[in-house]
Amino acid sequence: MPSLAVTLGELQLANPILSASGTFGHGLEMEQFAPPERLGGLVSKTVTLRPRPGNPAPRIHETEAGFLNSIGLENRGLETYLAETLPEVAGADTRIFCNIGGESPEEYARLAALLDERSEIDALEINLSCPNVQGGRLPFSTDPALAERCVRAVREATSKPIFAKLSPNVSRIAELAVAVEQGGADGITAVNTLLGMQVDWRSGKPGLATVMGGYSGQGIKPVALRCAWECVQAVSIPVLGCGGIADADDVLEFLAVGCAAVQVGTASFSDPGLLGHLAADLAARLEAAGLESIAQVRGSLERHLSAK
Ligand code: SIN
Repeated sequence: MPSLAVTLGELQLANPILSASGTFGHGLEMEQFAPPERLGGLVSKTVTLRPRPGNPAPRIHETEAGFLNSIGLENRGLETYLAETLPEVAGADTRIFCNIGGESPEEYARLAALLDERSEIDALEINLSCPNVQGGRLPFSTDPALAERCVRAVREATSKPIFAKLSPNVSRIAELAVAVEQGGADGITAVNTLLGMQVDWRSGKPGLATVMGGYSGQGIKPVALRCAWECVQAVSIPVLGCGGIADADDVLEFLAVGCAAVQVGTASFSDPGLLGHLAADLAARLEAAGLESIAQVRGSLERHLSAK
């Protein structure tokens, strides 16, 4: 059986497949379809300091190749997460990543400090890139100096591994990748959703109440792959590829550009059982190709290019 184990800095994962934040509840809601022990890690929905009601409906709109969302970081807030959600999720036999969202570097740091005390959490993912709050301005993931400040504030507040989730809605994602590495991130998640919109031309009604929202799903895979590759080339910390992954071949494409692991999101909505068998599919693909480990695939693009 090919080896699927991966190491992200000091963190060992059984396999390179994680759930993407906001697409899998906090993890256990999907247990009957995808038992958590079959994943390398569960990434929680974004947790904020205070509860958030989220944006007005409609806030999901299906498109030809994915969907638009404008959830607006709806969640019950840190206190409820710590008191109710975390004790449930903590029993899962996988790595637990808590995704956090804030409105200032100080707020991110406060969240990180409060979560630092909880040994059930293996790592933090800093959501710098939600397009559905602060009027879609994406301040933390478009301004390298602010991104760095934010990550540094979190770094100073916690000893847990931290992963910065970047936005594809920038001209040069590599600059953001370098900034978060300098701020002390242990890894990067590339990428969050693309800003998009839809309108009914007859009525003029937009698909989302907020008009613009985040576009995810298979349609964004080429963009996400390009962003992940640009990050891989710019930094030496591990990159987690995210965007449009729907099967084992997609996972392998992200590994080929140099990602250490991947996150799967929108595909779980059309196939809730996907994450229950994706690691086994990956092992089967490697076996069929005569490979013994995913390490043999990782970075194959670079090897191909430099052999030319
Ligand atoms: C949302 O809650 O609006 C989506 C989360 C995100 O895109 O980061």
